[in-house]
Amino acid sequence: MQTSSWTPTRVLVTGAAVRIGRAIVRRFAATGAAVAVHCRHSETAARELLAELPAPRTGAHRLVQADLADPEAVAELIPGLVAAGFIPDCLVNNASTYRRTHLANLDPERLRADLQVNFLAPFELMRAFAVHCRRGVILNLLDQRVAAIDPSAGGYGFAKKSLRDATEVAAVAWAPDIRVNGVAPGYVLPPPGVAPEKMTRLLANIPLGRKTEPEEIAAACWFLATAAAVTGQILYLDGGQHLVPTVAAEIPETR
Ligand SMILES: NC(=O)c1ccc[n+]([C@@H]2O[C@H](COP(=O)([O-])OP(=O)(O)OC[C@H]3O[C@@H](n4cnc5c(N)ncnc54)[C@H](OP(=O)(O)O)[C@@H]3O)[C@@H](O)[C@H]2O)c1
Repeated sequence: MQTSSWTPTRVLVTGAAVRIGRAIVRRFAATGAAVAVHCRHSETAARELLAELPAPRTGAHRLVQADLADPEAVAELIPGLVAAGFIPDCLVNNASTYRRTHLANLDPERLRADLQVNFLAPFELMRAFAVHCRRGVILNLLDQRVAAIDPSAGGYGFAKKSLRDATEVAAVAWAPDIRVNGVAPGYVLPPPGVAPEKMTRLLANIPLGRKTEPEEIAAACWFLATAAAVTGQILYLDGGQHLVPTVAAEIPETR
């Protein structure tokens, strides 16, 4: 059981090289934690990030590369780190692929691919963390859509809702040794390849009328990682978007 002064010392962040993942890495490393920076294609960015991080209190930061679309690579990720002497006490499931798909176009291949990266892989990492690391905290990056009905969210939407459920179930199943919490962002950064202007109409319909900064997501992750009395919590950082009917942004379906 964690006390109020507990802080993580070894953190695995998936999809950590760029965007929100990079902000999370910087936030945790600033506290002296050692970070395993996971990436798939963004190796150069990951190495640049590692080079700028302050030295951890104990151990060393490291790079870990794995394609979360490959179940074997997922299964080896945490056991590989543990065998190398890096036993995470905090897992941040951040990596994700966001593709908008109208329901009728969600064929089995596309659905399987969306579920693999956005639910099956993070769940397997949660399970491996419970089996191999045994204590600490898990943070799952969700989406405010877990509180909404978005007909274009496709397999991504189903996966994030499943990950929300897994967050709450695991919070009960693995207490008191492991706390499990979720962070549900609204609009932070436009999906890769989508111009920020496309998001303007979306912002107009959000109660606070503003987007969330990656650093605000990282600060929420740090809070949930260190709040020893908090488990099974889903924290929305979305300017209140989940409270109002969603007006679909003018973002085209992803091909
Ligand atoms: N951006 C937003 O406004 C927003 C809104 C709501 C929720 N969220 C959630 O917040 C989290 C971070 O968002 P983001 O926009 O920063 O994410 P992102 O840029 O879309 O993706 C983060 C990283 O995930 C990794 N990734 C994707 N497919 C992978 C695969 N098959 N194997 C391994 N890694 C893979 C990529 O790593 P490489 O670059 O190394 O390939 C990518 O850089 C996500 O879980 C997302 O669902 C974000």
